[in-house]
Amino acid sequence: MAEWTTVSQLADHVGQDVRLRGWLYNKRSSGKIHFLQVRDGTGLVQCVVVKSNVSDETFAASDALTQESSLVVEGSVRQDARAPGGYEIDVRRIEPVHVAHEYPIALKEHGIDFLLDHRHLWIRVPRQRAILRIRAEVERAIQAFLDDNGFTRVDAPILTPASCEDTTELFETRYFEDTAYLTQSGQLYMEAAAMALGKVYCFGPCFRAEKSKTRRHLIEFWMVEPEMAFVEHEENLRVQEALVEHVVQSVIDRCAPELELLGRDISRLERVRAPFARMSYDDAIRWLRDRGFDIAWGDDFGSPHETALAQEFDTPLFIERYPTKLKAFYMQPDPNRPEVVLCADMLAPEGYGEIIGGSQRIHDYELLQSRFEEHRLPEETYGWYLDLRRYGSVPHSGFGLGLERTIAWICGLDHVREAILFPRMLYRMAP
Ligand code: 4AD
Repeated sequence: MAEWTTVSQLADHVGQDVRLRGWLYNKRSSGKIHFLQVRDGTGLVQCVVVKSNVSDETFAASDALTQESSLVVEGSVRQDARAPGGYEIDVRRIEPVHVAHEYPIALKEHGIDFLLDHRHLWIRVPRQRAILRIRAEVERAIQAFLDDNGFTRVDAPILTPASCEDTTELFETRYFEDTAYLTQSGQLYMEAAAMALGKVYCFGPCFRAEKSKTRRHLIEFWMVEPEMAFVEHEENLRVQEALVEHVVQSVIDRCAPELELLGRDISRLERVRAPFARMSYDDAIRWLRDRGFDIAWGDDFGSPHETALAQEFDTPLFIERYPTKLKAFYMQPDPNRPEVVLCADMLAPEGYGEIIGGSQRIHDYELLQSRFEEHRLPEETYGWYLDLRRYGSVPHSGFGLGLERTIAWICGLDHVREAILFPRMLYRMAP
């Protein structure tokens, strides 16, 4: 008998004796037979304990097992089309590892606050495990795509002396005699790295002290940020749509059971094929006004606007060329219309909101310096960033894809809080 077998390997062991270790998810009894649903992290299998086939010790141990008890099971694998997963184990011996106390997350509905308070246990349920597996696949697929397309992963510092996006959303911390801020985005550092390596990306946590309590905001979230030298606006969008198509199709190919468990409509995801829909900011404002929305040129979109726009299309939707005054200081103005910038936000279909923000960056020294003056950004902090425009400056572009929002969309989640192991939100930092 092999040392240990996992549930995912049972197909290779039909008719053989195996040893599994895991946790009891659920138990049904009918007097002389116990049906134990055992999960081991790779899957769930029903283990059948028949009193007449096992020792008194094993039957008593099986009887005493409570929900989430840990155990070792020995028995033979039987193929059974009716069983969930297609296999069952006829148990010969059971060895409890630890008999669990009364488990707080019973197999019934619980309120969200209770579940979040028990997040350390909640992650054991099938739905949460499916989401975490899809998260792992999204991360793998992102990295595979970028690595196969000539990007070098470099990663950015978490402790920074200045802000990248918005100074009101910074987390401040002591740095010996100085003040440091938790990073909001690695972009500025990626711009430096792109001038060294051509195509680069960072992938890590970002922090925003946003007082937003919405379904799309986390205080700590993960972002992948590719940055490309010699790449302009149009090519930037093409990389984004190729990446997102690749990620979605990889999840369909490799996580079909998880998507099914989540009840996700896979046909909607199958339609996520490049090229994606596009609309200019101007057209989006017109489109919304025609449909009765109270919005004017120069206003930012709120979530109802984004939902209405995105619901028109099967693919994600790029909204391009926002007003310069709405966007960050580093964005390249459109040469034909300096009142708008060469940027785009990508909105996920079905109302899941913005998943990518990106732009072409200003590469002209004088223009960037004038932006620093307008935004009152101190040259002693940002001097190094200006230097990039002093030594072989080139047009360059990049973007940031929010991991949890992308996962929430792919999984069909109402809220991003389920897309990360331990969410940090406005009113929650524990467990
Ligand atoms: O549009 P944002 O703010 O862009 C940047 O930070 C750029 N510096 C990125 C770059 O060009 N390298 O954020 C990018 C994405 C958003 O589209 C969203 O998906 C995600 O990051 N995001 C959040 N996700 C969860 N909670 C929050 N509070 C988020 N803020 C942004």
